[in-house]
Amino acid sequence: MSVTFSFDEKTAQQLSLIYQSEDIREMQRQYRVWFDPRPGENILDVGCGTGINALALSKMVGAGGKIVGIDNSDAMLAVARATAVAGNIEYQLKAVEEMEFPEDSFDGVVCTQVLGYTADAMPVIQAILRVVKPSGRVFIAETDWDTLVYNIPDKELQRKVTLGFSDHHGDGWFGRRLYSLCQQAGAKQIDLHHYVIHNDEYSARRYGGPLSYVIRDYLLRTKKCTQEEVERWMRQLSDAFDNHTYFFSLNRFVCILRK
Ligand SMILES: C[S@@+](CC[C@H](N)C(=O)[O-])C[C@H]1O[C@@H](n2cnc3c(N)ncnc32)[C@H](O)[C@@H]1O
Repeated sequence: MSVTFSFDEKTAQQLSLIYQSEDIREMQRQYRVWFDPRPGENILDVGCGTGINALALSKMVGAGGKIVGIDNSDAMLAVARATAVAGNIEYQLKAVEEMEFPEDSFDGVVCTQVLGYTADAMPVIQAILRVVKPSGRVFIAETDWDTLVYNIPDKELQRKVTLGFSDHHGDGWFGRRLYSLCQQAGAKQIDLHHYVIHNDEYSARRYGGPLSYVIRDYLLRTKKCTQEEVERWMRQLSDAFDNHTYFFSLNRFVCILRK
């Protein structure tokens, strides 16, 4: 993971807000339709973050099932332990690279928006495949950050913002590389889906709103844009919303693997 992007307390709070946005809740609903959790299943949530998905999954597997959420960030797990609690969820502070679950442990594994933050994704995908049962499935979702779209008047500025933020965790092209990585990791069967998050409302309720604050902080911290550029960008976002030209979109890719 880049030293300039960390899942600290401030990021955990910002992400917690983002995950409550309508777009992300809708996307997670679609993800769960594709993943299809069943009552009684034992599910591993790799990089569970603030636990929002673990909580939804825990209701679907019911009291006879179990969710194990692992994450290597104390700050993210602190939010999960405070806000996403259920009798059948267990959270563990653990890096995916250090998983020690026995082979064929889980009916399903979900790993959304995590692989891009690991130093070497291939062995991680292989380790995840190892712990899922032969009858189970692994759900992996990743973003292609070069597809970050905000409609503002200044094209050059938006291009600078998109490219400046794209590699914030190392490889912003992880989304477009996910399918071939899963093939190379040895998955026997891969179902590919794509999901486009989009909306025309610049507000805290929609993903592009709170995301713009994460982007602003990152661009300033890394000096990829000047203070003046970042302020101009934020102003143009608000103005675009006021004059009904605002539009946001971002492409995500999902692979469902079987071994
Ligand atoms: C963008 S968040 C996604 C959270 C959650 N999966 C979701 O989609 O809502 C990425 C999460 O992966 C965790 N993470 C990053 N690298 C990790 C690693 N090597 N092992 C375990 N967790 C990791 C981060 O701490 C963070 O909580």
